[in-house]
Amino acid sequence: MDYFEDKVALVTGASRGVGFATARELVLRGAKVVITARGEERLEDSRRKLVDMGGEVVSRTGDVGIWDDAASMVSAATEDFGRLDILVNNAGVSMRGDFQELSPEVCSQVLATNLTGSINVTRAAVEHIIESKGNIAFISSIAGLFGMPGASIYSAGKGGLTGLSESLRLELADAGVHVGVAYLGFTEHDPEKRILAADGELVPPDRPAHHPQALAAKLILNMIEKRKRRIVMTPAGKAGWIAYRISPWMVERLILWAKSSRIGIYRRFS
Ligand SMILES: NC(=O)c1ccc[n+]([C@@H]2O[C@H](COP(=O)([O-])OP(=O)(O)OC[C@H]3O[C@@H](n4cnc5c(N)ncnc54)[C@H](OP(=O)(O)O)[C@@H]3O)[C@@H](O)[C@H]2O)c1
Repeated sequence: MDYFEDKVALVTGASRGVGFATARELVLRGAKVVITARGEERLEDSRRKLVDMGGEVVSRTGDVGIWDDAASMVSAATEDFGRLDILVNNAGVSMRGDFQELSPEVCSQVLATNLTGSINVTRAAVEHIIESKGNIAFISSIAGLFGMPGASIYSAGKGGLTGLSESLRLELADAGVHVGVAYLGFTEHDPEKRILAADGELVPPDRPAHHPQALAAKLILNMIEKRKRRIVMTPAGKAGWIAYRISPWMVERLILWAKSSRIGIYRRFS
């Protein structure tokens, strides 16, 4: 029997992108899925696509940064499906801009979604996940393994997920709960995707996509099924992470050299 068959999963930020690809993969593997996002129309569209594939899927709108919304997302799983086995904390927003140019609103919005949002939904879900001895997955970035220039608050939020997951893993070890972090590399994006510029304007991503969303989804499901503590998505990301553990100085020099030479290597990491 497939690991995901008849399991109940909640995927935040699943109206598009990596979240939708993950929900799709879960449906294909037999899970019942709750999908969430703020925008109602796109979320309903995505729910219909998953139902058309034969999935048992419900949707709940809300902002992960707001506690009541996070609690309501978890209630959707327990009320409609009676349990919750798998939480994928995927909702996130990206940003670009040097730290001294960032508006205070951008700083708080990035942290409210990427860090507080994951904390809120996990806190609301944790008793149910303990009951099912299930899985909690956090979707991070290579920029969460080491800091990236022009992405300070994004790196701070994604790096914060590492600390959160490490504490949770220890606290929940006796309860049989799996906690894993997926450090994704730059992945293809939907045309509607927007990132925050330094002044708070929503702008299209400024980097070319490298990896298919379906690959990210498969790696996330593999991390959950094999109960791995982490996956690092790309060969460049893996090499960067190993090199950073051996010599942070060397990786910092390499990033600064790539930035000053205006070559695209450092762009592949976020
Ligand atoms: N794509 C990449 O290259 C890449 C690389 C590394 C890591 N990641 C991480 O992977 C995750 C998904 O990225 P993506 O590229 O698929 O993003 P995306 O296309 O922008 O999708 C983000 C999803 O999250 C929802 N969302 C955003 N803010 C939210 C909030 N405050 N509350 C609830 N839902 C919210 C969005 O819908 P609404 O706007 O309607 O709420 C959407 O469904 C993120 O955590 C991101 O940081 C992505």
